[in-house]
Amino acid sequence: GAKVGSWDKPLDGKVALVTGAARGIGATIAEVLSRDGAHVICADIPAAGEALSETANKVGGTALPLDVTADDAGAKVAEHVLERHGGLDIIVNNAGITRDKLLANMDSGRWNSVIGVNLIAPQKLVDELVERDALRKGGAVVDVSSIAGIAGNRGQTNYGASKAGVIGLVNAYAPILAKKGITINAVAPGFIETAMTAAIPLATREVGRRMNSLQQGGQTVDVAETVAYFANPASNAVTGNVVRVCGQSLL
Ligand code: NAI
Repeated sequence: GAKVGSWDKPLDGKVALVTGAARGIGATIAEVLSRDGAHVICADIPAAGEALSETANKVGGTALPLDVTADDAGAKVAEHVLERHGGLDIIVNNAGITRDKLLANMDSGRWNSVIGVNLIAPQKLVDELVERDALRKGGAVVDVSSIAGIAGNRGQTNYGASKAGVIGLVNAYAPILAKKGITINAVAPGFIETAMTAAIPLATREVGRRMNSLQQGGQTVDVAETVAYFANPASNAVTGNVVRVCGQSLL
């Protein structure tokens, strides 16, 4: 018959990197991966300061000040994990930004910064870690896309394009990483209650919540548990997928 695993602490002995871990969805992802037994390297921009060390302390992990767009980001992570842990098992590309404007006012600064953080950085990070042989067999890459990358959103052409691009990345990398025994998948959250969405005007926020088929804002833990599923060795036959979290967009 089938061999059914028992998954008490499924990530025991694994090392995970979570970008954008100082707060919001990233901080909760760090917490859930740590609960599942992983040692979590919490990365965020140096400006995140105390918040980053607080997350790292809370999860018993390591704080790594890291701007994912820095030229040496991949080299820095590779050096860190190879020196301290001999390699990395899980990468969660969660760091992300918005720079919203209606299309007529969408200047190239807003366009380039969003594409740089949300799309180019995750691609380069994975590429450089693979190149340096820092990603171990049996590993998992999980990218945080967005419902805006599937359905689009007014005022977010830059953001929607970056998050659609992340889905393209997952499709492109899945067969390549499969040869190394590594999976890559994306989560596409709907409207989740974080500092990012708290910055949106109240009326727009309500529209965001109603755009979910579940008709409510999601919680960071909803996204984190889905990431944990992709990180779990139990899903090692699941690659190249995108999972919506908090319903589909009704747009
Ligand atoms: P947040 O703004 O609360 O947290 C994002 C974190 O990323 C911050 O700590 C920030 O300092 C960090 N970050 C930004 N630029 C960085 C860089 N260059 N290098 C390293 N770290 C950097 O946002 P939230 O809501 O927690 O979002 C997390 C991810 O989920 C993002 O990729 C976002 O696009 C995505 N998402 C969020 C949704 C929501 O409704 N909140 C919906 C769909 C996707």
